[in-house]
Amino acid sequence: PTIHVITPTYSRPVQKAELTRLANTFLHIPNLHWILVEDAQRRTPLVTHLLKDTGLNYTHLNVETPRNYKLRGDARDPRIPRGTMQRNLALRWLRETFSPNSTQSGIVYFADDDNTYSLELFDEAKCFLSLQMRFTRKVSVWPVAFVGGLRYESPKVNAAGKVYGWKTVFDPHRPFAIDMAGFAINLRLVLLKPQAYFKLRGVKGGYQESSLLRELVTLNDLEPKAANCTKILVWHTRTEKPVLVNEGKKGFTDPNLEI
Ligand code: UGA
Ligand code: MN
Repeated sequence: PTIHVITPTYSRPVQKAELTRLANTFLHIPNLHWILVEDAQRRTPLVTHLLKDTGLNYTHLNVETPRNYKLRGDARDPRIPRGTMQRNLALRWLRETFSPNSTQSGIVYFADDDNTYSLELFDEAKCFLSLQMRFTRKVSVWPVAFVGGLRYESPKVNAAGKVYGWKTVFDPHRPFAIDMAGFAINLRLVLLKPQAYFKLRGVKGGYQESSLLRELVTLNDLEPKAANCTKILVWHTRTEKPVLVNEGKKGFTDPNLEI
């Protein structure tokens, strides 16, 4: 099966660095299709050229999150979680592109542009095919490092290899107490449930993932990967904002030089 990796991205000084790092990871993975969705009014030349130059199989989309939705805290302008409209556009693209009865098998994975991904997440130790994301029947899950104020958060897996809860401190009673980077979905399920999207409004912090997953599966359906959730294969790293104070108000360096 093809792994369709959905990445929301937005313009900022480190964007090209993040996307370069991500592309360098994905270039090692066979049969990968990168759906990169810019949070922008138009597809930018920076991202357009970067994608062309990687040689990866990709689809380049864009949708801008309305500016007033980006603010936190104001009751009249409920904040849309970051990257949500972009992920939803990619889900729609998949549904418009593939038919539910097509023989094309696929996996859908949401990969933010700043995380760190082990190659094993996509193709774990080749001798254990059933442990890989690529072999997801409905929804597979695994631990994610550096989220929820912990070294890692993880699904709880019993001796029979069933997920029965969530090893988290932050609200463990969420239906799916898991970060965006901690699950993959079989494309067929995405196509069979065409109404399933991330909710845009009234979603409490940490409930974004649940808002989609509850439309697709129950706890009982989840398939633990990463050696029954005993390995860390993805890290929720966040890139520090570079200090650019010496640019001054007018800018010191050549603004036409793409970084
Ligand atoms: C956490 C989760 O890991 C995200 O999956 C979730 O979307 C986010 O919180 C949230 O609920 O807001 P965090 O590291 O705080 O992640 O978020 P970012 O990495 O800043 O953003 C997530 C993705 O959305 C990134 O790929 C980023 O490039 C993109 N993004 C961010 C946009 O497309 N537009 C923005 O204005 C900000
Ligand atoms: Mn992030």
